[in-house]
Amino acid sequence: MNEQIVILDFGSQYTQVIARRIRECNVYSTLLRYDTPAKEIATLKPRGLILSGGPASVYAEDAPLPDKNIFKLGIPILGICYGVQILAHFLGGKVEPGRKREFGKGTLIVRDGSCPLFNDLPETLQVWNSHGDKLTRLPKGFVSVATTENSDYAAIENRATNFYGLQFHPEVVHTPRGREIYSNFVHGICGCGKDWTMRNYVEQAVAEIRAQVGGEKIILGLSGGVDSSVAAALIHKALGDQLTCIFVNNGLLRAREAEVVQEVFGRNFRIRLLYEDASKLFLARLRGVTDPERKRKIIGRTFIEVFQAAVGWASSLSKGRRAGGRQAGSLSHYRFLAQGTLYPDVIESVPIAGNPAAMIKSHHNVGGLPKKMKFKLVEPLKCLFKDEVRQLGLELGLPKEIVHRQPFPGPGLAVRILGEVTADRLQILRNADSIVVEEMKSSGWYYKVWQSFAVLLPVRSVGVMGDERTYDYTIALRVVESQDGMTADWVRLPYELLEKISNRIVNEVKGVNRCVFDITSKPPGTIEWE
Ligand code: XMP
Repeated sequence: MNEQIVILDFGSQYTQVIARRIRECNVYSTLLRYDTPAKEIATLKPRGLILSGGPASVYAEDAPLPDKNIFKLGIPILGICYGVQILAHFLGGKVEPGRKREFGKGTLIVRDGSCPLFNDLPETLQVWNSHGDKLTRLPKGFVSVATTENSDYAAIENRATNFYGLQFHPEVVHTPRGREIYSNFVHGICGCGKDWTMRNYVEQAVAEIRAQVGGEKIILGLSGGVDSSVAAALIHKALGDQLTCIFVNNGLLRAREAEVVQEVFGRNFRIRLLYEDASKLFLARLRGVTDPERKRKIIGRTFIEVFQAAVGWASSLSKGRRAGGRQAGSLSHYRFLAQGTLYPDVIESVPIAGNPAAMIKSHHNVGGLPKKMKFKLVEPLKCLFKDEVRQLGLELGLPKEIVHRQPFPGPGLAVRILGEVTADRLQILRNADSIVVEEMKSSGWYYKVWQSFAVLLPVRSVGVMGDERTYDYTIALRVVESQDGMTADWVRLPYELLEKISNRIVNEVKGVNRCVFDITSKPPGTIEWE
């Protein structure tokens, strides 16, 4: 078992960020609900405990409270924001509503530099606050070690029990040296080593996959996205030819996408890859459909059908046809199914009113495979965050092109063609999109932004090309920055780059005579147009 820090989640929007910061210190971290029994926590043998922030007040009737026995586990505890109130509430301090809500940047003055949390840090630090209630009397045995303008107890400690509290949020980027504070906690105070690396994880995961799957066969739906690609490479390392990947071409892919996947996985990695070209079927079913939700449903259903058929399940598709003479039926003895599920998908969100994290669940993904496909699931990425998955991909030798790929929706270009999806429109969008990707990459912007893509609008307008009047489509350019896709802002690209992309699209893409740039943030807009 990895040395680990347990974080109790009291509903702060930053809880997952704390978990990531700890892992960036090369220490494994686990997020648990705030009310996880102390006994259960003890079985994990954590080296330390962090109490996260949260939107509640400790004196509210339905305030989320931990098992009081966590204070008897005999391990160091760090309370952040609401976590400090928890310390006070249980250990004899006092919390009151602050007269002024302290929100935003503040300056922390460290009054006692010998506090191990501030080891090797300067006396004055920029910090980020976000709290209404504040500590007005210290819990027993605690002293104040740092102050802000608004609080005499911005950082508190009880060195005898190794309990610490911070009123501010060291995990956010607006506390520039916060990472060092966490490092001081996990290494200096909890005594953790630096064993959590993706290099070590490969070994551990390979052993676990082998133990779970044994000599059985396993199947994986490869989309070409980061998660399924990394899962494929990892499982292949563990099981070699026991793994078969199925790649479904739904006809809604970007230019060269199918080729890249076949090149990387089939030729370079020599993974057994079934390439199922179902593009004609998808397009036939999308004919005449303009409603975005219907499009999604049709695509989701068709995908499942095609995938099932590929796995040799009884379905209408497999009856009539067998692609490339392949023996589809021979796959039916695959008992395991691999999925690229990530940690944020499995964390149980805390049901506290006003907790935005509770709403951050994948609202998009088409409901998964039907239950009647009785597979045992193998999910080797389910304890990893996205940035760790990327590191793992590099560790496994996947190319940057795949590892640092921008997110791409499952229903593909269908959500970027407004109105009916036809072969002609797909071609126009693919051509425009290739120019966007090419120019973003050559200017160095591609890997700096969350997403950059073209959208094809169904409106046509008048233009002039040479001496001729044109009546063609419009391309909207969407380039956004974001942390997790839940909120986003449009990227202020240099005019020269915008000019180049627009000129190239209008000159090179037949059927387009106008290019516009979307300057809507999310909310109120969404990233995709649909
Ligand atoms: P919106 O358009 O809701 O998108 O602002 C947020 C993020 O989700 C991606 N997206 C999808 N991802 N399947 C996916 O796996 C989907 O059906 C889907 N639809 C949108 C979108 O690209 C953005 O990053």
